Amino acid sequence: MEIKNLTLKDFDQAYKFWERVGLWVYPLADEFKKYKSMYALFPQFFLGLVDNNNVIKGTIVGAFDGRTASIHRFAVAQEIQKQGYGSQLLAALEEIFAKEGITKVTLQVHESNLKVMDFYEKKGYSKDQVVNFKKSLS
Ligand SMILES: CC(C)(COP(=O)(O)OP(=O)(O)OC[C@H]1O[C@@H](n2cnc3c(N)ncnc32)[C@H](O)[C@@H]1OP(=O)(O)O)[C@@H](O)C(=O)NCCC(=O)NCCS
Repeated sequence: MEIKNLTLKDFDQAYKFWERVGLWVYPLADEFKKYKSMYALFPQFFLGLVDNNNVIKGTIVGAFDGRTASIHRFAVAQEIQKQGYGSQLLAALEEIFAKEGITKVTLQVHESNLKVMDFYEKKGYSKDQVVNFKKSLS
């Protein structure tokens, strides 16, 4: 198992992986548009955990808005969870953020997945006092 940079060629496999692990995803074409535009800005923030056959077993994607970095599409295949791979992926992305001079990282946890907060707390994240609002413009 190794951590490598994902490229645009990995998108189809990554999308199937996200569906399989139960991450909420946009329809394929929309998701690809977002992946491509984020990738154009920071390709180094796209990491995959792959097995010896280059099959994706985990992913983490970072973004940066100029002030704060954020974490997206973070998951490890169910059959290899709780073996330290999630910690490795997170640490690898945090190291890349740090090299870019980024000092603050945020992430969102869906209300239906609050159990994952234990993981983030172990990794030094704490719950923010901010409530997010959203509006669709189309
Ligand atoms: C969150 C996730 C990526 C963690 O990956 P992982 O490979 O299982 O994590 P690790 O093995 O590195 O776990 C590190 C520690 O967190 C704990 N942990 C891992 N997942 C946990 C979870 N879902 N709930 C509570 N604790 C968890 C582990 O037991 C371990 O604790 P320890 O160090 O005391 O032994 C993985 O659980 C996952 O893919 N979940 C489904 C997708 C998801 O919810 N993604 C996050 C979206 S915000």
